[in-house]
Amino acid sequence: MGRGSDLWIRGGEVVLEGAGQRADVWVEGGRLRALGADLEPPAGIPVVDATGLLVFPGLIDPQVHFREPGLEHKEDIASGSLAAIAGGVTSFCEMPNTRPPTTSPEALEDKLHRADGRAAADYAFFLGATAENADRLGEWEQAEGCAGVKLFMGSSTGNLLVADDATIERVLRSGTRRVAVHSEDEERLKQRYAAMGPNASVLQHPEVRDVGCALRATTRLLDLVEKTQRPVHVLHLSTAEEVALIRERDLGQLVTCEVTPNHLFLEAPDCYEQFGARAQMNPPVRDRRHQDALREALVDGTITCIGSDHAPHTIDEKAQPYPKSPSGIPGVQTILPLLLAATRDGWLRRQDIVRICVRGPILAYGYADKEPGVVGSDGDFVLVDPNIQEPLQLDWLHSRAGYSPYEGMMLAGWPVTTILRGTVVYEDHALVGEPSGRMLRYR
Ligand code: DOR
Repeated sequence: MGRGSDLWIRGGEVVLEGAGQRADVWVEGGRLRALGADLEPPAGIPVVDATGLLVFPGLIDPQVHFREPGLEHKEDIASGSLAAIAGGVTSFCEMPNTRPPTTSPEALEDKLHRADGRAAADYAFFLGATAENADRLGEWEQAEGCAGVKLFMGSSTGNLLVADDATIERVLRSGTRRVAVHSEDEERLKQRYAAMGPNASVLQHPEVRDVGCALRATTRLLDLVEKTQRPVHVLHLSTAEEVALIRERDLGQLVTCEVTPNHLFLEAPDCYEQFGARAQMNPPVRDRRHQDALREALVDGTITCIGSDHAPHTIDEKAQPYPKSPSGIPGVQTILPLLLAATRDGWLRRQDIVRICVRGPILAYGYADKEPGVVGSDGDFVLVDPNIQEPLQLDWLHSRAGYSPYEGMMLAGWPVTTILRGTVVYEDHALVGEPSGRMLRYR
């Protein structure tokens, strides 16, 4: 593996976990060498002029679906990771509900092979839990390039499912790394889909997969966490009730949780009226009461991180009548622009973006080399132009999905240059050089 690059990022405002500061950044051999006001890097080092720009550490997106192998008409590792770096995401972890699903070391190896030379950001891949592989996961999760184990308690896109407590407990007792969980209760989901009238529309999606589906599963999950003491990461929290439950049970580091930008920036019923099935995802986007609770929990630290749950489907697939329309919203490229808009709107601070998009994922999953602003960590950065205050345009987006519920939204800044281990990898709306993502390492 070649030595990383040298780079001097000069004159920007660096945003880390404290207040922003005017500082230069010196990356040597791909790693952060120094950060400060009076750096003296050697003559001849490549320079990026960041005057007037914000310099954020590269974002980590711990939940994306890039659809390869098997569903490449929706996305593939090359297109999805290009969207990632265009949005300032320099590391991603990809979910196992591909075709075939990633449920064996061979399937994991296949994805790593596919990513090599084609992924534009650093990567790891989740193994999907099943009743068949439950007892092997503890050994398999130690493989290089494995992001951990993902468990679907309720059915969503694909057929991965571990619905009953006994099998979930077997998964939790097999291994030590934090398990990522899609927490919706399968039994209740089945009942509610069966009871749904013939004329149901996507407007009913939050009622079909209701608060009870999410709350019942998360309650069962926390019981099992307490029993087994296995750490979990609750994906895409969607209800005020789950936030209250997580606070009340207070299981400390055993439970970390995530929210998607969609649950923070879209609200029912407007999003379904405006975008139809293009706003349909699992668990559903709900009304304002839930959105307020999720925002508050993100600000106060109850929710530890953001994952985009980038889940592209084609426009034609989305046009099928509900409930045939598939669930999932693309979003890996729009995390940072949305959060910048939240800083404009005053409910988030710039340094919170670093906490929830870099520190939070590290806290949950233990990535090595990615500590924001720490000397010796990877020189991953994204430069943001805070003066770009334009509507979000579709032709900026690289996902094969070809739509975004955020099209037309007024921006308060846009990522303009992305740097991976000291090399500019994205600039002027295009990939620079060959894709150079590497396998993520874990502590
Ligand atoms: O809406 C969703 N889409 N939720 C999931 O859990 C899966 C995802 C997908 O893969 O389409």
